[in-house]
Amino acid sequence: EKGGYEHFMLKEMYEQPKAITDTFSPRIKDGKIVIDELNMTDEEIKAINKIMIVACGSAYHAGVTSKYVFEGLSRIPVEVDVASEFRYRNPILEEGTLVVVISQSGETADTLAALRESKARGAKVLGIVNVVGSSIAREADNVMYTWAGPEIAVATTKAYSAQLISLYLLAMKFAYVKGEIDDTVLSDMLEDLKSLPAQVEMLLNNKQKIQRFANRYLAARDIFFIGRGIDYAISMEGSLKLKEISYIHSEAYAAGELKHGTISLVEEGTLVASVLTQKELYKKMISNMVEVRTRGAFVMAVTMEGNTEVERAADYVIYIPETNKYFTNSLAIIPLQLFGYYVSVGRGCDVDKPRNLAKSVTVE
Ligand code: F6R
Repeated sequence: EKGGYEHFMLKEMYEQPKAITDTFSPRIKDGKIVIDELNMTDEEIKAINKIMIVACGSAYHAGVTSKYVFEGLSRIPVEVDVASEFRYRNPILEEGTLVVVISQSGETADTLAALRESKARGAKVLGIVNVVGSSIAREADNVMYTWAGPEIAVATTKAYSAQLISLYLLAMKFAYVKGEIDDTVLSDMLEDLKSLPAQVEMLLNNKQKIQRFANRYLAARDIFFIGRGIDYAISMEGSLKLKEISYIHSEAYAAGELKHGTISLVEEGTLVASVLTQKELYKKMISNMVEVRTRGAFVMAVTMEGNTEVERAADYVIYIPETNKYFTNSLAIIPLQLFGYYVSVGRGCDVDKPRNLAKSVTVE
């Protein structure tokens, strides 16, 4: 059942190229994005004036990433909230707000409650769901399935990757309908999207290198992940992957926030994983990396091929191939998943079934 892999998590990481392909390919027809399940006319799409994204855990992190993508491409304002907060905060849902709930299992109690709350307030709810026929899939007004296939490991990998793809497709669709991107931009983006599976595959095949690196951090007490913009969203997911399966304390910070408190935790040898995939933010990130390194941090960087300037501020660099700036999460997350996985393996943890966690959280 594990198909020769040591753990379901590793198997599912290797299924990511397929999950990505299966999620985008049925929705690209003749060079256009067609999302029939959306059940929205172009006029209805143009009338969306706010997107409210609600989810838990990694699905929430996919949502945070998509805020940058939706806003950057379609210029529709986006709010992202964790479901357990959203449902009790008397949310303001006005005419023109589209609520998007994201869930792998489709059974997460808080996400389901947020969906019901939104519907009761008259909002239209789109579900991005992996399990066909699940509660969220049944109750949402419309469902866009992530075609990742069954996910067994508690720590999500391929469903998260498929969620990102669904969100990119929606954002591109909305942007195109609103006239914010033209045919040339769209077709360039679709080319980059189609290259992702092979690029992910290539990054997965670097696993031995990441394993050797991970083995140096089996006894770490704290690990920090930093990034700006989309890279901050990637950092959040990288940090969750590591902590949930390795039990090492880790936190993600918007790099600019470090000096407002967190930097006091950096000691000689503390690992700071820095994500910098956004060109316009490279310089800012490099100064943050220099700041922590001056205080003794060991700096690991995940950055785009060609950005060798980073080598003056990092002790260890992982390069990811070129892609559209909105898709970098799909590549940068791979070495971070592998890092979390190998730290967990090296520490002898129960990788697929970490303590205290359940695959589907059906109680609030
Ligand atoms: C982390 C993880 C969880 C889930 C969260 C939401 O690896 O798997 O954080 O993402 O419990 O679950 P779903 O997507 O089923 O609603």
